[in-house]
Amino acid sequence: MKEIKSELSVFYETAHAELASALEMLAACKGTDSPKQALGYFMHSKDEYYHARSFFKMLSVRGKRASTKTARNFRFTAPSLITKGYISNKGFLIDTMKLKDFIAFVYTNELLAKSSFENILALVGRTSEEGDKISSIMTDELRHHRMAKKYFLNHYPALQPLHLMIYRMKETINNKGRKIYDANLKFVDRLLTPLYKALAYLAGTIAKKLNLNEFKRKNKNLMDISPNSIL
Ligand SMILES: [Fe+2]
Ligand SMILES: [Fe+2]
Repeated sequence: MKEIKSELSVFYETAHAELASALEMLAACKGTDSPKQALGYFMHSKDEYYHARSFFKMLSVRGKRASTKTARNFRFTAPSLITKGYISNKGFLIDTMKLKDFIAFVYTNELLAKSSFENILALVGRTSEEGDKISSIMTDELRHHRMAKKYFLNHYPALQPLHLMIYRMKETINNKGRKIYDANLKFVDRLLTPLYKALAYLAGTIAKKLNLNEFKRKNKNLMDISPNSIL
């Protein structure tokens, strides 16, 4: 059971990351004035939607194998893209970053995505149907990485590889930071859930003991009620 839970978590997080990329690319497509760039962003977004769909499918297969109670924790809701930090509440990257930084970000993250899929590939098995799908997703990510690199080096020749290397280091640290944040959130949730439940139980017990007849105001002179009464 522990195994299926950790698999659910892997596919749940990856599907979020892919869907967030699709939305980021769509926002970039909407924002550019260049038809050529718009087409590039659109095709990239389409790939990422396809990746997200594949990972949601793999998640659903495992969700059906898990207990209802476990599967319920891995149900997708759109706001979790923001609460989990995949999309910033300050806006899409294309709106909050300089174009140069945005392209460098894509360049770096596509490569990081590709390498994180190596682990998923090992998890599902290289020779399985899911393995084939993941291999083809990895090929897409490498293509995205190459396209971003080409664009970056063509448009910002003065900066070149060192700049991209710094970006890569920064993003690796950011990705690790997000994982730590997520783990802390889960830890705090585990810590506070019993407290919430105890408080809810206490509130329920008090509510059960209340005499609701006291709340009836019909035919009562409100002036006769004690000013200290909470009813
Ligand atoms: Fe992707
Ligand atoms: Fe990608």
